[in-house]
This record gives sequence, structure tokens and C-alpha cells, in this order.
Amino acid sequence: MKPTRRSWAEPFKIKVVEHVRLTTPEQRLRAITQAGYNTFLLRSEDVYIDLLTDSGTNAMSDWQWAGMMLGDEAYAGSRNFYHLEETVRRFYGYRYVIPTHQGRGAEHILSKILIKPGDVIPGNMYFTTTRLHQELAGGTFHDVIIDEAHDPENEHPFKGNVDLDKLEALIRRYGPERIPYVSIGATVNMAGGQPISLENLRAVRALTARHGIRIVLDGTRVAENAYFIQQREPGQAGRSVADIVKEICSLTDACTMSAKKDALVNIGGFLAVNDETIYEEARNLVVVYEGLHTYGGLAGRDMEAVARGIEESVQDDHIRARVGQVLYLGNKMRDWGIPIVVPIGGHGVFLDARRFLPHIPQEHYPAQALTAAIYLDSGVRGMERGIVSAGRDKDTGQEHKPRLELVRLAIPRRVYTQAHMDVVAESVLAVYEQRDKIRGLRMVYEPRYLRFFQARFEPL
Ligand code: F0G
Repeated sequence: MKPTRRSWAEPFKIKVVEHVRLTTPEQRLRAITQAGYNTFLLRSEDVYIDLLTDSGTNAMSDWQWAGMMLGDEAYAGSRNFYHLEETVRRFYGYRYVIPTHQGRGAEHILSKILIKPGDVIPGNMYFTTTRLHQELAGGTFHDVIIDEAHDPENEHPFKGNVDLDKLEALIRRYGPERIPYVSIGATVNMAGGQPISLENLRAVRALTARHGIRIVLDGTRVAENAYFIQQREPGQAGRSVADIVKEICSLTDACTMSAKKDALVNIGGFLAVNDETIYEEARNLVVVYEGLHTYGGLAGRDMEAVARGIEESVQDDHIRARVGQVLYLGNKMRDWGIPIVVPIGGHGVFLDARRFLPHIPQEHYPAQALTAAIYLDSGVRGMERGIVSAGRDKDTGQEHKPRLELVRLAIPRRVYTQAHMDVVAESVLAVYEQRDKIRGLRMVYEPRYLRFFQARFEPL
């Protein structure tokens, strides 16, 4: 019989393998109990398929590994720094580059430079570390994403878009002097890996330019965002992902980057800016918190891997396969009627715990409970992206109660096969069929900052 479709495959073959261990249900129950029902506290050895995060979990290419051998470990002026600087200029277009150990290192430095106490930072939905650094610098984050982003069932193709009316109202209310920049995530992690459109970003640029307000891009997953623009935005289909990435960056003034995602490495990040005064201040601060401005907490070999990873990350065949694998997993679950966030995002599939477990109220942490249930079923590790991740209001101490109560199954780049995706989908289906048996949780330990990383729970 003739096949009805022609399949695509990954644009690579596998040269090195790492063994993974399938555990028994008894072992998993012991492990999750010891971990306080928090998948961040599991040992990786006890995990079968690890979808905790796409951060730092990527498989590097032979070209990146070869670059690691060319690490110039001089304290100052490493040749790999200059390669990284040249690469950032070539692919993202910013003038100045300050390496940092990872994304939050860049967020820390930039927040300290730009934010004064009492300032207001609008953004297309918060990200945990980004918002915390804004708050620690004395600012307050305001969400100006379109309403559709908070609705897991809404099919809007660009749920990362900024609501221009919300942004304008904020500027009117606080005045441009109190808004050091607008924070733009591309894609928006907490919304489910949702992209912002070029059209919207151009409009944000026009609006902020009228008021002299900067735009800072969180470029962590900018290549995935560019791919969605290429696929979905009218008039963009003929452009390369690399070309779209460069245009996104050109509409912003600075960028904080966690290279651990799109840029296909295990560690690294940077701050990139166009303004010379900010660059000078960032050079002053990076030596305090990270390291000299030509290494920023990274080894020379790590900077080389980042430089090469950036170049690989914007190749059309790479990004098509990367996002394609996420879509494969998501479509499978969607076809089986499992409630997931739609459209399917760029870096993972997000389960909608509100619809999955309607019998568990948000105060009993349904997404946290679902994450644990999936681990118990199969050893697949995801993470909570709901009320636990949202934390508490910095002034009132009340829990934020986000509309989105999600479990994220994030897919590391170039790590797992289609068979792994099948195993994951089938495990989620098995849990879905037994969902009535899942109970909520009680938090028994709550850390002060970014509580989701280390909080502990017990079943109710
Ligand atoms: N911005 C976004 C959108 C991120 O997703 C992350 C990290 C950061 C900034 C911070 O970068 O980890 O290198 O310091 N996200 C990880 C995740 C933790 O699992 O989504 P970092």
C-alpha cells in the first residue's frame, strides 16, 4: 500500500548514548515520597524520561564538542569570548556582549542597572527568575499580555502578544519616567511556549518609542518564536528563521539570554546591549557578581559551545525538527482528548490541570499533584507551572492564583526519540484514565524565594 504521508526525520544521527533506568512502582513511590512530592527534589537516577526542563539538558553536536577542545582558558581575553561576541553580533545584531553563567545572571545585572525602587516593568507574562530580579531591584512587574494567553483553550496563534491598550494605560498611569523598559519574552514560557508576532512587536516598538521607553528581550527561546512566525504569520513564510531572529532582536534595545535553551548548551548565558553607557555599567557589575567581562562565570570552552550552538540553533532544519517533535507529542495527547494548552508550544506540552483534575481546588496544588502522579505511573518527570510556581505577592504575602494551572512536559533538544514521546503520551493517557483517584497536596515546607524549586508536599 502507498503511504498516505511522507514522514520527516531529525536532521542528525546519534553518535553517543547515555543509558536510562526504568524503575519499579515501589521504587518510584519511595523516591517521590523522599522528594516531598516535588520533582525538583528527585534524583535524576530515579527518572526514566526527564521532561523537567529544556534548560541545560540539550545534546550538543560533535561540532560543539570539538569546539570544547579549543577552549582558551586564559583569565582575560579568551579567544572564545571574541568568537561568542562576534556570533552574537552576527545572529542577534546587538553591539555589546557580556557573558554570564546563565540567564538569571544577566537578569540580575540588567535589573540592577535599569530599575529604581518604585519603578514599573510591563511584560508579556512573568517569568519566575526575571520577575524576582525586577522585584529585588525595587520594581513591580505588570502583566500586559493579551487575555487569550491566560486561556488554555484559546487557539490564538500568537498568545505571546502584548495588549497594546493595557500597555498604553500603564504608561499613562505611571508615566514613562517610571518605566525603565518593557520586558518581552519570545516565546512566553509561562503561557505554554507561546510566540509573539512580528506585527505585534513592531507595534510595541512604535508605542514605546513615542515615550522613549526601552524594550528588553528575553531571547531564551527566540529561535522557536521565529519558527512560529515563519509558519503562522502572514507574509513571513519565505524567510529563514535566522533572518526573523535578527529582525526580532532589531526591534529591541537589549537582551538577556539563557543559552541553556535555544542555544543548545548545558550552561551559559549573556547580556547583550546596544547602549554604551549600559554596557559600561554592566562591565562594572559583572566583575562583582559573575567574573571578568570576557568570561562572566564561564569557562572558555563553554563560551565556544555557546557560540557554535547559537549558529546551529537558527538553522531551519534544526528548528523544524525540534518544534516538530513537541508538536508530535502534543498532537497525540490532543487527539486522545487529554486537556492540554493550545496551540501547542515551542518547548513543551503543557497539561491543563484544571480540566484534568477538576475535583482538586487550586489551594490543593492540582498541577503539583498531577506532576507527581505522572512520575509515579512511568518515571516521566515534568514540572508544575501553576500556583506553586507563581509564589506570593511581594507586598501582601498572599498566594498568586494564576488562571493557568499547568504541568509542563518540556522536551530537551536532540535528546529523545519519537519512541520516548510515545511512552510519555501513553503514560499521561493512563493517568488520565485514573484521574479520579488523584488527591491534592498540602505544602509542608515553603522556601522564601522561587518556592517551586525546593517546596515539600504531602498527599491530603
Ligand atoms: N527566561 C526564561 C523565559 C526562562 O525560561 C528561563 C529559565 C530564564 C529566563 C532563566 O534562565 O535558568 O539560565 O538562569 N527557565 C528554566 C525553565 C529554568 O525550566 O524554564 P537560567
